[in-house]
Amino acid sequence: MVKGFEMSKRRILSGMRPTGRLHLGHYVGVLMNWLPMQEEHDCFFFAADWHALTTGWQDTSQLREHTRQLVLDWLSVGIDPNKATIFVQSAVPEIAELSLLLGMITPVKWLETNPTVKDQAQELHMEEIFAIGHLNYPVLQTADILAVKGELVPVGKDQLPHLEISRDIARRFNHTYGNVFPEPQPKLTETPLLNGLDGRKMSKSYGNSIYLSDSPEQIAARVKDAITDPARIKRDDPGTPEICNVFKYYQVFAPAMEALVAQECRGGLIGCVACKRRFSDVLSEALAPIRERRAHWEARPDDLLEIVAEGNRKARSEAQGVLAEVREAMQLNLWPSQQPARV
Ligand code: TRP
Ligand code: SF4
Repeated sequence: MVKGFEMSKRRILSGMRPTGRLHLGHYVGVLMNWLPMQEEHDCFFFAADWHALTTGWQDTSQLREHTRQLVLDWLSVGIDPNKATIFVQSAVPEIAELSLLLGMITPVKWLETNPTVKDQAQELHMEEIFAIGHLNYPVLQTADILAVKGELVPVGKDQLPHLEISRDIARRFNHTYGNVFPEPQPKLTETPLLNGLDGRKMSKSYGNSIYLSDSPEQIAARVKDAITDPARIKRDDPGTPEICNVFKYYQVFAPAMEALVAQECRGGLIGCVACKRRFSDVLSEALAPIRERRAHWEARPDDLLEIVAEGNRKARSEAQGVLAEVREAMQLNLWPSQQPARV
C-alpha cells in the first residue's frame, strides 16, 4: 500500500450509551480500540443519550449525571479533547432530522430481524412495551454515523448487526438520491472479550465488574473473590493457568508477567491467595494513571462542560453541512430561505 494513502486521515465515529460507570470490559473491548485512533484519524466520540432512552425512558433522573460520568471516564482513559471531538447526541438535532429521513427508506423488516435489538427486548422482558424508538435504534445509529460521514466505526462485536443495517441504508440512499455517504465499516477491537473474574459476562447485575473509577481497595476486594483453578487447594498443588480467570487478567493487563505466573502456577510455587494479591497490586498500578486523570477532571467540572460544548459545536457544524447536502440530494429545499439558520 502506498504510504501516503495509509496515513491519510479517516473520519471515525463511535458512541456509547450513558447508562453508568464504565468497567474494564468496556475499556478492553471498546476504549482500547478508540485510543490509538485519535492519534491518526479524525475522531468523533459521542454520548448516545437518545439511545439510552430506548430502554430507559421511564426514568431519566440519572441521564445527565451518567452522561457526565461517561465523558469523565473517557477523559480518564486518555481520550484527548485536543485530538478527538467529544459530543452529546441530543445536542445535535440534525441527527434526529437525518434519522427521520433515513427512516423513510428503511424497510421495517430490516429492523424486526435485527438480532441485537431482539435479544435486548427479550432480556429486558420488553416485548410488550417495545417502542417505535427502540425498533428505530439501528436507524438512529445510522444517522449518528452518517451525519458526520463516518467511515470507520470502532465498536464491540455485538454491534455488527447494526452496522450491517447502516451499510444497507447508506447504499440505498446513495443509489436513490445520488452519492452522498460513505459506507461505514466496523472496526473490531483486537483484544478479546473480557469476562468478569467469576468467568461470567461482566455486568452490573452480576456484581462482578471492576470499574475504571474503583479505588485500589475496591479492586483488591473484587480480585480476592475471583474464581481460579478449582483443582488448587494447597499451595503446592500444580495448577492449570489456562482455566484461571486471574491468569486471563494477567495476560491482558500485565503481559510481561504471563510466563512467570504460568510457571509458578504449574509448578505449585505460589498459592492462589498470594497470586491474587500480587495481581490486584499490578492492576491497581496499571489503573493509577486513569485514576489520576479522573481526579484531575473531577476537580474541574466547568472545563469538562466546556470540552463538551466545544465538541457539540463542532459536531453540529459538521452535521449541518451534511444535512444541507442531504436536503439538496432529496430535493427538499425549494429555495434558499427555506434552509434553517446555521449555528
Ligand atoms: N449502540 C452502541 C452501543 O450500545 C452505541 C451507539 C449509538 C453507537 N450510536 C452509535 C456506536 C454509532 C457506534 C456508532 O454500544
Ligand atoms: Fe490462577 Fe494464580 Fe491460582 Fe494459578 S496460582 S490458579 S494463575 S490465581
